[in-house]
Amino acid sequence: MKTNIEPAEGKLGILIPGLGAVATTLIAGVEAVKKGISKPIGSLTQMSSIRLGKRTDNRYPKIKDFVPLADLNDIVFGGWDVYADNVYQAASNAKVLDQHLLDAVKEPLEAIVPMKAAFDHNYVKNLTGTHIKEFTTRYDLAQQVIADIENFKEKHNLNRVVLVWCGSTEIYFEESEIHQNLANFEQALQNNDERIAPSMIYAYAALKLGIPFANGAPNLTVDIPALVELSKLTNTPIAGKDFKTGQTLMKTILAPGLTARALGVKGWFSTNILGNRDGWVLDDPDNFKTKEVSKLSVLEEIFQPEINPELYGDMYHKVRINYYPPRGDNKESWDNIDIFGWLGYEMQIKINFLCRDSILAAPIVLDLALFMDLAKRADMSGIQEWLSFYLKSPQTAPGLKPEHDIFKQLIKLQNTLRHMMGEDLITHLGLDYYQELVESM
Ligand SMILES: NC(=O)c1ccc[n+]([C@@H]2O[C@H](COP(=O)([O-])OP(=O)(O)OC[C@H]3O[C@@H](n4cnc5c(N)ncnc54)[C@H](O)[C@@H]3O)[C@@H](O)[C@H]2O)c1
Repeated sequence: MKTNIEPAEGKLGILIPGLGAVATTLIAGVEAVKKGISKPIGSLTQMSSIRLGKRTDNRYPKIKDFVPLADLNDIVFGGWDVYADNVYQAASNAKVLDQHLLDAVKEPLEAIVPMKAAFDHNYVKNLTGTHIKEFTTRYDLAQQVIADIENFKEKHNLNRVVLVWCGSTEIYFEESEIHQNLANFEQALQNNDERIAPSMIYAYAALKLGIPFANGAPNLTVDIPALVELSKLTNTPIAGKDFKTGQTLMKTILAPGLTARALGVKGWFSTNILGNRDGWVLDDPDNFKTKEVSKLSVLEEIFQPEINPELYGDMYHKVRINYYPPRGDNKESWDNIDIFGWLGYEMQIKINFLCRDSILAAPIVLDLALFMDLAKRADMSGIQEWLSFYLKSPQTAPGLKPEHDIFKQLIKLQNTLRHMMGEDLITHLGLDYYQELVESM
């Protein structure tokens, strides 16, 4: 496959609907890394190594030296928001990063001014921004977003573009007939059908142009048959949903360990306090429902109670998010896990994670953008399940259960990179190190 990957020549535009806490933390961070004043901790594309060949080969290149990724110096950021603040102002308001760090990268941040958003207040009731496009139909709105992307590409002389949704979580709804195929979807755009969410407008615009689209929120967005169809038609990678940070990250690290040791779980109670704009949006029950569904699915898939009823058949799982302004972006979460072991004896695990949401999310956005761009150059289209590692609610082919175990997700991601580069896949079998054993079999 290696010969098929186009080199990462020229500039890559990363366009982001939603220039809030996560997006501005990413952009400021990349600028700080470029200046040499910070390190991109938490980003696999920048920091991690990958093993190649046998353990005895001692080949552990950095991922960025192994696969042809865009260089940070070749990235140009842009985006849309319902508030007109430039990225410096928005990052200052978000209060994730220290002001002195933001001041050190003020110039490039101030230069990024959001384009007017494709927005519908019914989808995010707690937002009052007015930096919004006017439109007659949703088809017209999609054409405006297409024009935005094309103009941005031309203005900055970009070779390639990717879109990553970092906008607010939209209200919960289920797909209907207009989402089932592209013809219905395009007709619904013309009819200005309100069942087409704003995030779908951005996704449609990107895919029409053959531009990869990843979704960092739990909204349906590209996870509908119509847009999967469009992604195949225009040979474009898609991925979603919902960045895996904080409490869910911990769940997908811990739960595989419990199930690996065949320990039972009776209950898992998770609660959070969060005071940023995301927390305010999620204070609306319709928006929280979207998040809740995404967060709840994780444990079911890892424990598989239908296969392991004695261990997980009666598990009670509850997730709460409470809006609590004093904490800002510094979310605090508590998990109480009631487990049982040998002969049914009960034990408890308590986790109290004082996390920084956007600090965990920013490197995910960077990696998703760089890997989606790589996938496009490697001629991979449709759902990129190998990027499940980054997502709470990974999009998969119809009928295929998502893999939530973070360690399996990492193996999948690394093996995909090895496969792309024509390296042997690593199975971790290891019998070949014990030749006499293999010969005796
Ligand atoms: N921070 C995390 O750890 C994390 C984890 C998983 C998912 N997410 C999701 O990522 C998204 C961003 O999180 P955040 O903390 O940056 O939130 P935020 O509220 O700070 O930023 C979201 C921004 O999106 C804008 N927006 C809303 N609708 C829009 C539209 N239609 N077009 C353009 N802009 C729009 C809002 O004005 C806001 O500025 C949220 O959906 C959140 O649920 C965040």
